[in-house]
Amino acid sequence: MKKIIDRLNHRFASQLTLPSEPLKDRSAVEVLAGHTSCREYTDQPVSPELVELVCALALAAPAKSDLQQRDIILIEDKDKRRRMNELMRHDWIASAPVFVVFCANNRRQTQIHEWRQKTFANDHLDAFFNASVDAGIVLQNFVIAAQAFGLGCCPLSAIRFHLDEVNEMLELPDRVFPVAGMTLGWPAGQGEISLRLPLEATLHRDRYREEEMKSHIDNYDRHRNEIQPSSRQRYAAEFGEVENYGWSEDKARQYAKPERADFGAYIVRKGFRLE
Ligand SMILES: Cc1cc2nc3c(=O)[nH]c(=O)nc-3n(C[C@H](O)[C@H](O)[C@H](O)COP(=O)(O)O)c2cc1C
Repeated sequence: MKKIIDRLNHRFASQLTLPSEPLKDRSAVEVLAGHTSCREYTDQPVSPELVELVCALALAAPAKSDLQQRDIILIEDKDKRRRMNELMRHDWIASAPVFVVFCANNRRQTQIHEWRQKTFANDHLDAFFNASVDAGIVLQNFVIAAQAFGLGCCPLSAIRFHLDEVNEMLELPDRVFPVAGMTLGWPAGQGEISLRLPLEATLHRDRYREEEMKSHIDNYDRHRNEIQPSSRQRYAAEFGEVENYGWSEDKARQYAKPERADFGAYIVRKGFRLE
């Protein structure tokens, strides 16, 4: 563990200290294979040293052209956390000892252009996209690091239902926007491995193949329904109750309703050019 901290301190020129919580003896492969999002936490706190260490491990992720266009905001202020919990409206979110927000950040880059007196000649969709991808990679590194310590976490794009308030609460300047929140804590339960689409549908060889996509999805729906049936049918009042309610029916129902249609306008207000 000391070697890990030394490496990070070298990388960040930081003074991270050893947390009291031990690193579980788990390989990255084991963590990835056993991944589950955690929506049930114990009361046990996570030490500030460990939270900082998980964030540092997350921020050690690769970044497009080394531009490092992503940041993490730890919500430590009690009032902000309370307000965040009110916005999220789930007891399991409120019960998590730690809440962080992953932000895409193209601001630093534009500031650097000002400070170095160079034109920013790449003010187009790529700037938004690269920063978003960098933030997503850091988010996933955070998940892996957390789970390697035996912590549980769950990403929350739901914070983007409250863009204006989150933006104001976190005082996000132009070209910095929230990609997702994340709860973190010690898992109270085992968690259930969520089934994924079969590799035949998502792992392609030499070209994109979709000749059998529908049958792959039908089979996946059937299999998933047998093993992990949905506890409720989404928008049943409108779409009715069907016998074999599968993943694809659920996702089609979910996205039959507009969700975050204001996001593009918000991103444009934040100073990004999307063409
Ligand atoms: C970018 C991102 C945003 C997510 N947002 C939410 C969310 O708002 N609420 C939630 O309960 N889960 C959220 N999740 C968790 C997914 O629902 C979860 O990853 C998916 O159902 C698969 O389950 P698993 O992670 O346990 O394998 C999010 C995951 C990602 C990667």
